[in-house]
Amino acid sequence: MFCAIGLVLLTLAFASPGTQVLGKLFQGPTEEILKRAYDVIIVGAGAGGGATASRLTEDPRVRVLLIEAGGSDFMNLNISVPARASTLSRSRFDWNFTTVPQVGLDNRAVLYPRGFVLGGSTAINQMVFCRGTKDDYDRWARLTGDEGWSFEKLAPFVRSVDRMTLPTDRHNTSGQFDPSIHHHVGTVPISVAGFPLPINSRVINTTAQLPDLFPFNLDYNSGDTIGIGWTQSTIHDGRRVTSATSYLAEAWSRSNLDIVVNTRVTKVLPVGYESGKPVMRGVEIAQTAGGRTHTLKAREEVVLSAGSIKTPHILLLSGIGDASYLSSMGIQPLVDLPAVGRNLHDHAFLGNSWLVNSNDTLDNLRVNSTLAAEALTQWQANGTGPLGIAGGSQFGWLRVPNASDFFAALGVADPSAGATSAHFELITTDGFISKRIAPPTEGHFFSFITAVISPTARGNVTLNSTDPFDAPIINPNLLGTDVDIAVMREAVKAARSFVAAPAWSDYIISEFGAFAEAHTDEELDAYIRNNTDTVDHPVGTVAMGKGAQGALDSDLKVKGTIGLRVVDASAFPFIPSGHTQGPTYILAERAAAMILRDI
Ligand SMILES: Cc1cc2nc3c(=O)[nH]c(=O)nc-3n(C[C@H](O)[C@H](O)[C@H](O)COP(=O)(O)OP(=O)(O)OC[C@H]3O[C@@H](n4cnc5c(N)ncnc54)[C@H](O)[C@@H]3O)c2cc1C
Ligand SMILES: *[C@@H]1O[C@H](CO)[C@@H](O)[C@H](O)[C@H]1NC(C)=O
Ligand SMILES: *[C@@H]1O[C@H](CO)[C@@H](O)[C@H](O)[C@H]1NC(C)=O
Ligand SMILES: *[C@@H]1O[C@H](CO)[C@@H](O)[C@H](O)[C@H]1NC(C)=O
Ligand SMILES: *[C@@H]1O[C@H](CO)[C@@H](O)[C@H](O)[C@H]1NC(C)=O
Ligand SMILES: *[C@@H]1O[C@H](CO)[C@@H](O)[C@H](O)[C@H]1NC(C)=O
Ligand SMILES: *[C@@H]1O[C@H](CO)[C@@H](O)[C@H](O)[C@H]1NC(C)=O
Ligand SMILES: *[C@@H]1O[C@H](CO)[C@@H](O)[C@H](O)[C@H]1NC(C)=O
Ligand SMILES: *[C@@H]1O[C@H](CO)[C@@H](O)[C@H](O)[C@H]1NC(C)=O
Ligand SMILES: *[C@@H]1O[C@H](CO)[C@@H](O)[C@H](O)[C@H]1NC(C)=O
Ligand SMILES: *[C@@H]1O[C@H](CO)[C@@H](O)[C@H](O)[C@H]1NC(C)=O
Ligand SMILES: *[C@@H]1O[C@H](CO)[C@@H](O)[C@H](O)[C@H]1NC(C)=O
Repeated sequence: MFCAIGLVLLTLAFASPGTQVLGKLFQGPTEEILKRAYDVIIVGAGAGGGATASRLTEDPRVRVLLIEAGGSDFMNLNISVPARASTLSRSRFDWNFTTVPQVGLDNRAVLYPRGFVLGGSTAINQMVFCRGTKDDYDRWARLTGDEGWSFEKLAPFVRSVDRMTLPTDRHNTSGQFDPSIHHHVGTVPISVAGFPLPINSRVINTTAQLPDLFPFNLDYNSGDTIGIGWTQSTIHDGRRVTSATSYLAEAWSRSNLDIVVNTRVTKVLPVGYESGKPVMRGVEIAQTAGGRTHTLKAREEVVLSAGSIKTPHILLLSGIGDASYLSSMGIQPLVDLPAVGRNLHDHAFLGNSWLVNSNDTLDNLRVNSTLAAEALTQWQANGTGPLGIAGGSQFGWLRVPNASDFFAALGVADPSAGATSAHFELITTDGFISKRIAPPTEGHFFSFITAVISPTARGNVTLNSTDPFDAPIINPNLLGTDVDIAVMREAVKAARSFVAAPAWSDYIISEFGAFAEAHTDEELDAYIRNNTDTVDHPVGTVAMGKGAQGALDSDLKVKGTIGLRVVDASAFPFIPSGHTQGPTYILAERAAAMILRDI
């Protein structure tokens, strides 16, 4: 009951280091791979690449090669245990990127984790599952001129992703989500938290006590996110669900799918020209900087799913980007496409903590190793207990009060996609949270992560050198506009209003650290700039769109080329007002249908 059969088999295949390779997994580019013919070559096995590889190989006539830069250890304990997500940044599952100094963050540079393993960033993320809102997708449809990206038209693809499952502890979930909007046929299992936290009833009671400010939302995945409700996570039976444990596990035994790991695509290459356009069906691969390279050629298409940082990086290295910029970097331009690497946007993250009148918070797991060991034993038995959840069980999506006045005063139009889309997010956490300062060794905390969810700032991904093993220069431009910091200020004020509800009167003791000193708008801005980081949701760097704003046509084909598509979060024209793995899966579902139709 605890493990799906597929997972048991995968566990056997990957349980111990040095286990013999089973099935179609290759640890490097062997002769067998180099001489085989593939219809489609997919670059990157994260959310986009994993889903695309799985859907394409449902058609037995389509032979697919999936190339992943990272390794195959996706069943690693630290990946599987939800509460260990924070150990994955700066681990061997991370690309270890860092941004350039961020003007909006007092010129601090921040870590920019990206998954480096089968599953990609779904193997290192915080597992929140969001579909995105009706207005988000309807805006995509307007910007691309393709009604197929509207919320209504995407419904069948949402259905293919979403599989609501029982929570790990099998508790009664009545009132925690709306069963009528979920499906039980999708590939990605999701669930509400399977371990009860003492703060849960306080959070829910606040929605009854302050319903105007914080309305209860039974299910933020209905297309309308506004309000506070129960978080749905890519967790099943207490284990993290990734694109590898879901999509790739389903495809694993298919003879038409080969997966090669520890192998990087360094460039896409033209194999000829058709009607004046380069036919980009070639990829160059290498395992080490300056090491031996090989060239592979797809019969039909190359699909870039290397994510919002590496997909534009590969395109720029291949001569696809702003021609004058590429020339200045010493790269021969192949296609002049200025949108490549631009339009990078992301959500800004701020941890705000309070000291609380309780000894029963998740902080105990951090400071009490006996308790942590007991929790691990329980998790290993059946996935239950505090290790089987992420840090909190509810969150909320809110709009600034009087939005049109608020943004008019700042001289801009409302940056959200519409009434179903939030300006900011509040995420509850049953313990201390900060990406800025180390957790205290004692004390018990409640925290709200505040996040700017419809940002106006845009940054870019550019080249530091022409060496494909060198990291690109990453500038997400976090809090880069007055509008974004004003929204973060509203989010912090909302968090304070939330805990001022009667439900918290015997619980909250005081604000903690620099937060407690920040009261005036000036003080708040200083606190915010000094402590904000990223929610790790970069998108938009190779965006779909009309005219010069878009690098991709609405069918995800790279403009000015033949045989090359992008299927990952870099294709989003606008960041969804939600977390980004769900929208990446949904985009990949539609992309796979398009590819199967075309080839
Ligand atoms: C720390 C963190 C927390 C997050 N929390 C959440 C959350 O709670 N909820 C949510 O919805 N989203 C979250 N996200 C974001 C979400 O995981 C991503 O939006 C999603 O995974 C994007 O999918 P993708 O296919 O674009 O890229 P990825 O999933 O990053 O996949 C890209 C893959 O391509 C591989 N690759 C890159 N370059 C090459 C190359 N040259 N050759 C071969 N392979 C290559 C990478 O190794 C990787 O496996 C989080 C992300 C991070 C990093
Ligand atoms: C898990 O993470 C911890 C902390 O970073 C590390 O010490 C440990 O070796 C990791 N375990 C595995 C199985 O990789
Ligand atoms: C990231 O850093 C960790 C810790 O130093 C290291 O083990 C890992 O190999 C690095 N990742 C990559 C892709 O180099
Ligand atoms: C999980 O195991 C614990 C301890 O062994 C037990 O108390 C609990 O009932 C089990 N839960 C489920 C859902 O199997
Ligand atoms: C779950 O709770 C709801 C509301 O309290 C109740 O109506 C329902 O019968 C319960 N379901 C089960 C299976 O106990
Ligand atoms: C929340 O409200 C319920 C129902 O009114 C009540 O039983 C419960 O004690 C409240 N919880 C807290 C922590 O106030
Ligand atoms: C927490 O533990 C301390 C030390 O044992 C005790 O004095 C205090 O009363 C406890 N607080 C609560 C809320 O249980
Ligand atoms: C640590 O956890 C263990 C096991 O639950 C418990 O017995 C012990 O009292 C805890 N230690 C402290 C200092 O709270
Ligand atoms: C919103 O506007 C209304 C009407 O103009 C006003 O009464 C109310 O105080 C405003 N609310 C806020 C939070 O500014
Ligand atoms: C990237 O952004 C920086 C900072 O805004 C800007 O100076 C630079 O010109 C941009 N580069 C490209 C190639 O767009
Ligand atoms: C760019 O390369 C230089 C020289 O290797 C290095 O010092 C610098 O840190 C790199 N910049 C980034 C943003 O990676
Ligand atoms: C910024 O935060 C750091 C870490 O908490 C702190 O040491 C420093 O004093 C803060 N700086 C300002 C200007 O608040």
